[in-house]
Amino acid sequence: MTNTEVSTIRDEPLPLILGIESTCDETGIALVRGTSLLGDVVATSMEQHVRYGGIIPEIASRAHLESFMPTLDAALAAAGVTLGDVDAIACAAGPGLVGSLTVGISAAKGLAASLGTPLYGVNHVIGHLAVDGLEHGPLPERFIGLVASGGHSNLLLIEDIATSITELGGTLDDAAGEAFDKIGRLMGLPYPGGPHVDRLAQKGDREAVVFPRGLAAAKDRERYRYDFSFSGLKTAVSRHLSAHPESEHADVAAGFSESVNDSLTAKAVAAAVDNDCEWIVVGGGFAANSRLRELLQQRADAAGKQVRIPPLRLCTDNGAQIAALGACLVAADLPPSPLDFGPISSMSLARPYLAPPNR
Ligand code: KG4
Ligand code: ZN
Repeated sequence: MTNTEVSTIRDEPLPLILGIESTCDETGIALVRGTSLLGDVVATSMEQHVRYGGIIPEIASRAHLESFMPTLDAALAAAGVTLGDVDAIACAAGPGLVGSLTVGISAAKGLAASLGTPLYGVNHVIGHLAVDGLEHGPLPERFIGLVASGGHSNLLLIEDIATSITELGGTLDDAAGEAFDKIGRLMGLPYPGGPHVDRLAQKGDREAVVFPRGLAAAKDRERYRYDFSFSGLKTAVSRHLSAHPESEHADVAAGFSESVNDSLTAKAVAAAVDNDCEWIVVGGGFAANSRLRELLQQRADAAGKQVRIPPLRLCTDNGAQIAALGACLVAADLPPSPLDFGPISSMSLARPYLAPPNR
């Protein structure tokens, strides 16, 4: 053991976790100790998908293969560590694209076997919440998690991120980011449309065109208390644009954004009130949305609740979210995943990781 390694261990006794993310188009690799992010590198194949207007799974899988080693080397260099320093590995096991996940999982298994480290196959969506610990310190004891991305819009009751997660609700159709991307396409904006529609909405009048809220009918309000639906809204926007081609796109974007964010924020705050949680933690790429941040803070303040949202660079898919969750599992002293696990494209959000059977 070299002197540097000895001093690292003496100064910082927490285990070093290597996190590997490959659920979609990003190859993300990061190193985390406790709640300290030491190195975090992301390579994306988004440029190769833009001309198709959506992610092409086969292209994404090949890009993961090409990016894996350079991303790993860059992350280790950024953290100033070597593979020999790694104490445990966490990789995304799902939910996500099977081909993309397979590349990351296979690489993680190879590394774990050759280094003799434990391997945790973790839930990417729960990682979107765990990552906030790297910015704002250990997560609150009990909290409502709002995950909003291109693939997910969910409300979770988290009593312990390593062991106790209850799914309160989710979208019945499109995810929030996906709805934004579809409206972007209708308006002729580049893919992914979410950030473009957000920018346009900021210039519009959110009361000029009022669109319906999903699941707001009396019969749906209790049954779908924590669920979302954005497909009717998308149809309403599409009809409006056809019937009123002269209407200002900025006003339409603002009215659309208000409908999505009204539902997300009202239901997140209701979940916090109903479950007596002081904190709401937000994660996922849609957490970049300007109106979501503003409206959630306003409504949480009014209800006496507190909000934590990671910085934007940690909201989009990255290895830090996987390493952060891995660090929580290791800190809770949980056993690693059995080495025979494979990708789980629709992994239940109640499972933070693939625990050995009989747990
Ligand atoms: O979490 P993420 O990076 O990827 C996954 O879907 O897992 O989220 C990307 C999604 C895309 O749909 C993108 O358009 C949307 O988040 N998004 C936004 C904004 N920034 C990203 N949607 C609305 N407003 C934004 N500012
Ligand atoms: Zn994600």
